Amino acid sequence: MSYLEPWKELEQINCSDQLKRFVHQNEEDRRVSSLPHVLKPLPAKATVMGQDSPHQTGDLTSYDILTRAPLYFFASHVVEIPPHVPVRGVHRHLAAPTIFCFRGKGWEWNDGVTYEFETYDMVCFPPYSTHQHGGDREVGCGMISLATRLFHMLGLMWREQHKLSEKPVFPEGTEPIYDDAGKLQGYRIKKGVLGVEKDVEVVVGADSRLEVVFRVRKEAGAWSETVANTYDRYTKLFHDEVSYLGRVDHVVHERREDWEWSRHGKIKWLIHPEIETGAKQVWVYLQEIPAGSRSGMHRHIAEEQIMVLEGKGYDLHDGVRWDWEQGDFICIPRMTAHQHFVAGENRAVLLCAMPSPPTVLGLGGIEQLEDAPEYQSVA
Ligand SMILES: [Fe+2]
Ligand SMILES: [Fe+2]
Repeated sequence: MSYLEPWKELEQINCSDQLKRFVHQNEEDRRVSSLPHVLKPLPAKATVMGQDSPHQTGDLTSYDILTRAPLYFFASHVVEIPPHVPVRGVHRHLAAPTIFCFRGKGWEWNDGVTYEFETYDMVCFPPYSTHQHGGDREVGCGMISLATRLFHMLGLMWREQHKLSEKPVFPEGTEPIYDDAGKLQGYRIKKGVLGVEKDVEVVVGADSRLEVVFRVRKEAGAWSETVANTYDRYTKLFHDEVSYLGRVDHVVHERREDWEWSRHGKIKWLIHPEIETGAKQVWVYLQEIPAGSRSGMHRHIAEEQIMVLEGKGYDLHDGVRWDWEQGDFICIPRMTAHQHFVAGENRAVLLCAMPSPPTVLGLGGIEQLEDAPEYQSVA
């Protein structure tokens, strides 16, 4: 069966939506229960952009939910930029990515401005911006993009390539496209890849239909009229969003944020609504757990994806043990009670990310089930 066939078959199912709903719900639950909660990182490969891994917790497209991990929202991928590599490609998309540097240091070029980041910094850049990532020439960097399937579900997954890597690699099933003068124009995804029946061309440059949408936002300027009615509030919002995204920093510098002792343990928030950034899809914190200790136990409606930055140990998810070590991805399904335990003689540091949309939907908040052991003595 090709990748695209399940979607064709769905159209032919001759039963009511009411029946379908319960059949699919049951199948999804069965699928969630069958998938592992701890994943080993997938290795990076050379691509037209540079060096990238496949998405760690399942592909970015919403077609591919519940493929590697019991997660619906996250589809994070790792970008590895070794020292002295060719410069990566330039692209833009509607989605506002949230990128964490877990090794080395680097830079983000964004609409003509360069932002620098170091280990454990978070790069949060605004939607509809043209950008390029790079690593420090001497040490390179490793980054994880906390990508989500949210934009696909909204029909806003659109992306365009403006420049390929200085040394692009065309994987099997693709071929470069050259113009008459021999200049590289883009690449062709050949018929048969993922079941497509015609070649798909990816030509470098701006899409003329969407260019105007992007340009108008960039040129919107500040709102100067009075707000006379409710409709005006939303015409003003268009201008306010552009002004806000134009003034916020693109980097949350880890060293400038404070650790806090919470009922869940020692935490440093990198993204939440009170930290002004362009990042709106996720809430993110670092958690440090001392050697031999554990976090609190809590439960929230939203799923959670964790990257183990340091140390080793295990989690309990609704009482079931899942072992982890540095580099692993811990995937906590929605509505699951969970707690982290450190094994060995060193501390553990975790990068914990949760989707923000449930909070907007009235499904936010955290139910604390047990406090971290240090909490009472330091609070
Ligand atoms: Fe991007
Ligand atoms: Fe959690």
